[in-house]
Amino acid sequence: MRVLVTGGAGFIGSNFVRYLLKERADWDVVNLDLLTYAGNLKSLEDILDHPRHTFVRADISDQARLCEALQGHFDLVFNFAAESHVDRSIADATAFVRANILGAQTLIDLCRERGYGRLLHVSTDEVYGSLGEHGLFTEDSPIKPTSPYAASKAAADLLVLAAARTHGQDVVITRCSNNYGPYQFPEKLIPLMILNALDDLPLPVYGEGVNVRDWIHVADHCRGILTVAENGRSGSVYNLGGKSERQNLTVVKSILETLDKPESLIHFVTDRPAHDLRYAIDPTFVEAELGWTPRHDFETDLRATVHWYRENREWADEVRSGEYRQFTESWYGKRLGDETAG
Ligand SMILES: NC(=O)c1ccc[n+]([C@@H]2O[C@H](COP(=O)([O-])OP(=O)(O)OC[C@H]3O[C@@H](n4cnc5c(N)ncnc54)[C@H](O)[C@@H]3O)[C@@H](O)[C@H]2O)c1
Repeated sequence: MRVLVTGGAGFIGSNFVRYLLKERADWDVVNLDLLTYAGNLKSLEDILDHPRHTFVRADISDQARLCEALQGHFDLVFNFAAESHVDRSIADATAFVRANILGAQTLIDLCRERGYGRLLHVSTDEVYGSLGEHGLFTEDSPIKPTSPYAASKAAADLLVLAAARTHGQDVVITRCSNNYGPYQFPEKLIPLMILNALDDLPLPVYGEGVNVRDWIHVADHCRGILTVAENGRSGSVYNLGGKSERQNLTVVKSILETLDKPESLIHFVTDRPAHDLRYAIDPTFVEAELGWTPRHDFETDLRATVHWYRENREWADEVRSGEYRQFTESWYGKRLGDETAG
């Protein structure tokens, strides 16, 4: 088997490439990534020279470059490549439209034109919008994205499903809840809070910290993606969730407790516009049809994740480039300023 993974230098993609090399001993993996601020070869350091791993730098929305960069047949294609941070999409959605929508369509077309095998498109539960205090997202929940990020992911999902219906293309989609684990870019909640706590910096928590996410360990997500790619029904969507709903404030307090840091580091900041209250996945379909279920325990693996970031400060310092610092300062700096003024 020869497979293509796009976005394999990012958080979930790098975990997935590592997982594939271990779990499928006769698969060759071509890993294509643009290396944006969120993609980093440092996350692939231990496998860059692996004999079954080839890294290619390219933009999935650049058709000419993609055609030139990819040679030979692929039996499976996994599309992780995306702009993925909601706050950045609120600041400017242009890059999200290009990578997440145009990029997805360019890849869909290439897979069809070249006769590649099944395309697995990695999507998110954010396409369903927000839940109230009750209920769960099923695969039939209405698509009602709130943020420009979620809207761009929803658009891509619809294009993937359209390719199945219009062209009979072999595609599957996974929609997963919030991931945590090693190699997550430190602008996302869990690594940001861990690294700030380690440095005794303020921990910026949106609103009152009551937003609920259904946390899933990245290893469970990777196993779910491979299960769906190998055994899922063509043209179907599979929701993957961690069965671990937690309020943001609870997560932040657990991190502080693990690091033995005071709760006084928590700073409530002006909420994100249209901040979705709650996401929670009903994984009944994937459990019943493919036998996948999350295995990781949130409390245990959150502690392991905290330890990973503490032990891998060099990785975190390196990936937090000047570009990242500029964005964080302008985004949270304003909000921390609002709070002080208020
Ligand atoms: N992180 C989560 O909690 C979560 C949950 C559900 C679904 N997802 C989805 O999983 C996928 C991966 O998420 P992540 O958290 O690893 O994101 P990430 O931001 O850490 O990684 C994205 C990767 O895509 C690459 N990339 C961006 N634009 C590209 C382009 N035009 N061409 C090629 N490469 C490009 C980046 O360089 C980076 O390596 C995304 O599609 C995201 O929507 C993420």
